[in-house]
Amino acid sequence: MAETPAMSTPLAVIILAAGKGTRMKSDLHKVLHPVAGRPMLLHLIDSLNRAGATRRVVVVGASGEQVEAAVAATGVEIAWQHEQLGTAHAALQAKQALADFDGIAIVCFGDTPLLATETVARLAARLEAADAPTVAVLGFRPADAKAYGRIIADADGTIAKMVEYKDATEAERAVDLCNSGVTAVRTRDLWRLLDAVGNDNAAGEYYLPDIVTLTIAEGGRAVCIETGEDEVAGINSRAELADVEAGWQAQRRARAMAEGATLIAPATVWFSHDTVIGRDVVVGPNVVFAPGVTIADGATIHAFSHVEGATVGEGAEIGPYARLRPGAVVGRKAKVGNFVEIKKATLGEGAKANHLSYIGDAEIGAGANIGAGTITCNYDGFFKYKTQIGAGAFIGSNSALVAPVSIGAGAIVGAGAVVTRDVEADALALVRPEQRSKPGWAARFRAQMTARKAGK
Ligand code: UD1
Ligand code: CA
Repeated sequence: MAETPAMSTPLAVIILAAGKGTRMKSDLHKVLHPVAGRPMLLHLIDSLNRAGATRRVVVVGASGEQVEAAVAATGVEIAWQHEQLGTAHAALQAKQALADFDGIAIVCFGDTPLLATETVARLAARLEAADAPTVAVLGFRPADAKAYGRIIADADGTIAKMVEYKDATEAERAVDLCNSGVTAVRTRDLWRLLDAVGNDNAAGEYYLPDIVTLTIAEGGRAVCIETGEDEVAGINSRAELADVEAGWQAQRRARAMAEGATLIAPATVWFSHDTVIGRDVVVGPNVVFAPGVTIADGATIHAFSHVEGATVGEGAEIGPYARLRPGAVVGRKAKVGNFVEIKKATLGEGAKANHLSYIGDAEIGAGANIGAGTITCNYDGFFKYKTQIGAGAFIGSNSALVAPVSIGAGAIVGAGAVVTRDVEADALALVRPEQRSKPGWAARFRAQMTARKAGK
């Protein structure tokens, strides 16, 4: 996403997240439930950062310490709302944290993670327009307006009234323009307006939208701009979480294809928030990209592969049914075939592990061939050890490489070996009993046994 140029007026955001999120039925705070493998709150913070927010305050209540821990590394400030008295009361709790701030504040909700950077910038910029509104509200027209608060506005976006569903008349409920909750207002107006909000309404709560009513009563202007439903759909339940995830995935798949990847069955491919995928990458059906994945140009990820924390080089082939775990680095044109698991291991250029292997804590040189069923025995129940395999080495099928161990470049390990000592470059290592053969034994055995079974 393109950087939005910083506005001249400083921007602060106040993210409300003190609600209990009861409908999630979870011990995890609602705003920490992940979308695309990352807590929804962090999606929102990222988007707000890109809009140029220099100050970020999250208002928390119940389970607030979970949120505090999750944002610890982001420089976001925390304000506590000990009693959930409504959205205006919640926003007011950020006053102390922003006491030294003079600029535009965007108030938004922690459970609306897909709010776009451009929309935030557009809303903030609306305050700077020639008609100088005091408040700008982000509206949307959902297919089902449910119990959202309604915005009664002119065609040009001038707001006449905002009303919560519980307090609305039938005529007001019939209005399809809804309040997303995202609100822009200068801090010098915000605190004064919030202080004046009362709770004489159907819910007995201090409503944030009442700052619009107060503005109009003062003779000021309140306006709204609109955005799409997908961007501001709130998450209140697991079902809504799944809906937002689905929307995010649909967008991400479309972007991957627009950027030159082929997704054979797009609806079955799952991305994470940080997946990086190149041009001419082909992704088969039912592939999952967990967090931390980079796929270089021209790579192919065949069906039913699960890829996490891995880097896949140009033209490499993965799967079908492969599992790449964190720290897997697959080189250019290397191949990882079916039922192969790779963890914290580097596969050099053109190296192959095509069938039924576990490669963990290993370094495999260019062009090496790892035979079917090869296992790196990297763990003794206490510590992990490393396996090194040189360039061009050939590991015979069904070998156990007991780490720490090193196989030299160009060496061959005969099938079925349990390798416990290093193998020098270009050597042949055989670790198995010698084969014996007894001519005619099987035929004699069969004859004897057949006779015994027939009772002779
Ligand atoms: C709110 C809006 C409604 C809007 C809808 C959009 C109000 C009064 N209503 O309704 O106009 O259409 O969002 O989704 O603003 N919160 C606190 N402290 C509180 C109460 C709420 O921090 O005391 C937080 C919640 O954690 C949540 C957000 O504010 O993130 C919105 O609260 P919620 O109760 O979900 O409001 P809605 O009824 O959905
Ligand atoms: Ca809500």
